[in-house]
Amino acid sequence: MQAGLAKLIGLAGETNVQGEEQKKLDVLSNEVFVKALTSSGRTSILVSEEDEEATFVEPSKRGKYCVVFDPLDGSSNIDCGVSIGTIFGIYMLKDGGEPTIDDVLQPGTNLVAAGYCMYGSSCMLVISTGSGVNGFTLDPSLGEFVLTHADIKIPTKGKIYSVNEGNAKNWDGPTTKYVEKCKFPTDGSSPKSLRYVGSMVADVHRTLLYGGIFLYPADKKSPDGKLRVLYEVFPMAYLLEQAGGQAFTGKQRALELIPEKIHDRSPIFLGSYDDVEEIKALYAAEQ
Ligand code: AHG
Ligand code: MN
Ligand code: MN
Ligand code: MN
Repeated sequence: MQAGLAKLIGLAGETNVQGEEQKKLDVLSNEVFVKALTSSGRTSILVSEEDEEATFVEPSKRGKYCVVFDPLDGSSNIDCGVSIGTIFGIYMLKDGGEPTIDDVLQPGTNLVAAGYCMYGSSCMLVISTGSGVNGFTLDPSLGEFVLTHADIKIPTKGKIYSVNEGNAKNWDGPTTKYVEKCKFPTDGSSPKSLRYVGSMVADVHRTLLYGGIFLYPADKKSPDGKLRVLYEVFPMAYLLEQAGGQAFTGKQRALELIPEKIHDRSPIFLGSYDDVEEIKALYAAEQ
């Protein structure tokens, strides 16, 4: 919240493993999360968007959890003060043995918890441990997060679609057809509104509360799409399913993906159950 005042906007001068120019806040938030998680005594392996390799916590401080996280999501929006956030997923170590990279290359269905924090007009924590989704809002006067959105359920159908239309030239057939349907419905329904913030946390949060669909499809330039499986796709897919929605990759249920590398990417279509059903039907028709 103080980035502008604390001279924390702008570039850090480094490029991360994603090939992105890191912002100062990317680097700082990553350091904060790695320090807090390693010193908690609860974690054994950490995967961060900003670290090329996984962090294996020293034996004396190890715990039974593995945390995959995007410390600062929506970096392109930092310097203009638009909502950004943090996304995380939590696995248990697969067995009692020595932690290995396989402990974090698990399908999303093995997550034991996932959530995000959104730093916007208020600071919200939205989290699930497998029995529904709850939203908490920071009360700065207390320094505590208070329950403000109990048992969030996404509407089964929505009026908003959320995609970067600037990539339309490179989309495949089903995505192109689906977006066309959103804009020029042939069943007499009204066109969907387009809302796109460019921070996944903000776009998914709005989708979760208002309904509709968020898409980051594959395209000719990036056949695996842009969003990262472990610390963007899986946590958001987990939350959407827990809230009664669904998440699809264009080929399968997103949570059933098995990542081969910690920075793997995947196309993602997530949101209201009925809206995602429509895009699934378009991809199925193409098979
Ligand atoms: P990050 O800032 O953590 O690298 O993530 C950015 C992601 C995600 O937040 C957002 O949905 C997407 O990039 C926007 O990408 P485009 O600018 O290509 O639309
Ligand atoms: Mn990034
Ligand atoms: Mn991100
Ligand atoms: Mn990020």
